[in-house]
Amino acid sequence: DYKNSGSIGWESPSNIALIKYWGKKGNQLPCNPSISMSLKNSLTRTVLSYEPKGNGDQLSFLFEGKRQVSFEQRITKFIENLSDHFKFLTDYQLSVSSENTFPHSTGIASSASAMSSLALCLCSMQEEISGVEMAEDEFYRKAGFIARLGSGSASRSVYGGFAAWGESNSFSKSSDEYAVPFSKYTHPVFQDFQDAILLVSSKKKEVSSSAGHQLMENHPYASARFTQANKHFERMLGVLRSGDLEEFIEIMENEALSLHGLMMNSTPSFTLLKPNTLELIERIRSYRLSSNVPVGFTLDAGPNIHLLYPKSEKERVVPFIDSELSQFLENGKYIVDEKGEGPQKI
Ligand code: PMV
Repeated sequence: DYKNSGSIGWESPSNIALIKYWGKKGNQLPCNPSISMSLKNSLTRTVLSYEPKGNGDQLSFLFEGKRQVSFEQRITKFIENLSDHFKFLTDYQLSVSSENTFPHSTGIASSASAMSSLALCLCSMQEEISGVEMAEDEFYRKAGFIARLGSGSASRSVYGGFAAWGESNSFSKSSDEYAVPFSKYTHPVFQDFQDAILLVSSKKKEVSSSAGHQLMENHPYASARFTQANKHFERMLGVLRSGDLEEFIEIMENEALSLHGLMMNSTPSFTLLKPNTLELIERIRSYRLSSNVPVGFTLDAGPNIHLLYPKSEKERVVPFIDSELSQFLENGKYIVDEKGEGPQKI
């Protein structure tokens, strides 16, 4: 039972890294292991349609209903390089359309959700065309492998909850080539974990992530960083099991500031933190000290803050954001998201 034309849809989440992937080697392999939490509301929905190829047919890509040439080129190149993994691709004409559930220009990275949803569509297409279903773990492993080739962090987005990517002696299942789920080992305090994304600036990123990873080649602190990341990764796995939020926050904040420290003393150098980011960091830390609420921050390669806390603290944290933090946010805006269950076929 196989098909030669059809249409497949997947929605897949964005994720926030607790241990950061920063620096790559070989074919999109990470220099250190990373671990992230997948979100619930920040998603990309991708629909992939396929039919037998005619002469000169090109891939078409629509983003939120409009043709987007730069994405179209990136996806065309990505798909062209996948023929070893999906032999059938050269025989099909593909149309891809995708949309995000989070608003435009919020500075939320969409490459993880976009690339993972596309990778999941391609794996489903393989099943439809061949008429052979993969085992569930094989399916997600392949989707994570393919997503990684599009954007490293996307490999982690094929799973809900927590996912780890990158080889580590302390987690024997881990691999540089694909991510693995970590959720079944986590402490109940992380159930329903919240992530309030505080929007300091919605401007486009000043440094693309591929340029960012390149900064780690010949970085004077590269080997110290990779040692640190491995130690943090190992400790973070322990914390996710034990539920020690104090240590969780210590490691998570150190990771975020290490990432920005590395960018600041790279050549060329980038200062992506804005004055308001620092204002927020100081206020979050002094609130935590005075209230004892276990709330901590992390950052992507940009100025916006992800504020992480257990759901049981929501009644205290949201009023704190509204009364103290929102004055430092662009138009007072923030998005309350939380740990999600992972991709869904639509
Ligand atoms: O997946 P990329 O190449 O866009 O890199 C992501 C890098 C960080 O977001 C800064 C860290 C991470 O692990 O997600």
